[in-house]
Amino acid sequence: MIPLLLLACAAHIEPAQIDSVLALTGDADAGNQVYKDNCADCHDDDGRGQKSAILPDLIPANTDDDIVENILAGPSIMPNFVNHLEDQQVADVFAYLRATFGEYDPSLAEE
Ligand code: HEC
Repeated sequence: MIPLLLLACAAHIEPAQIDSVLALTGDADAGNQVYKDNCADCHDDDGRGQKSAILPDLIPANTDDDIVENILAGPSIMPNFVNHLEDQQVADVFAYLRATFGEYDPSLAEE
C-alpha cells in the first residue's frame, strides 16, 4: 500500500512530455537561476541539502529521462513542477544539473 500512496502524490507524466523537454537546448546559466528560485531551498546551492537526494551523487547515476521525469513529476516529498515551470525552464535547470553535477555514467546507476 505505501508505494501506491507515494505514487499518488506524484503527477503522471507522459513520455512525450519528457521527450519535448529533452528536445530543447537548455541554457545552464538560465538554469542556475531556475535552480536558485525553485530548488535550492531544499537541495542547497551545492546540491547536498537533502539527505535522501544528494544531487552530486544522483545526477550522474540517472539517465536524462529519469531526471527530467523526476523534475516534472515530483518523486514523493519533492513537489512536481509540471505546471509550475515552462518546458524551457525545465530544460535549462536540467542543463545546469548536468553541467554542475555530471553527465550520466551507467557504471554508477542503481539496480
Ligand atoms: C520541498 C523540497 C524540494 C524542492 C523544492 C525540490 N526538491 Fe528535488 N528532491 C527533494 C526530495 C525530498 C527528493 C528525494 C525524493 C523525494 O522524497 O521526493 C528530491 C529528489 C530530486 C532528484 C532526484 C530523484 C532521484 O531519486 O533520482 C532530482 C534530480 C531533484 N530532486 C531535482 C530537483 C530540482 C531540479 C528542483 C527544482 C526545480 C527540485 N528538485 C526541487 C526535495 C525537493
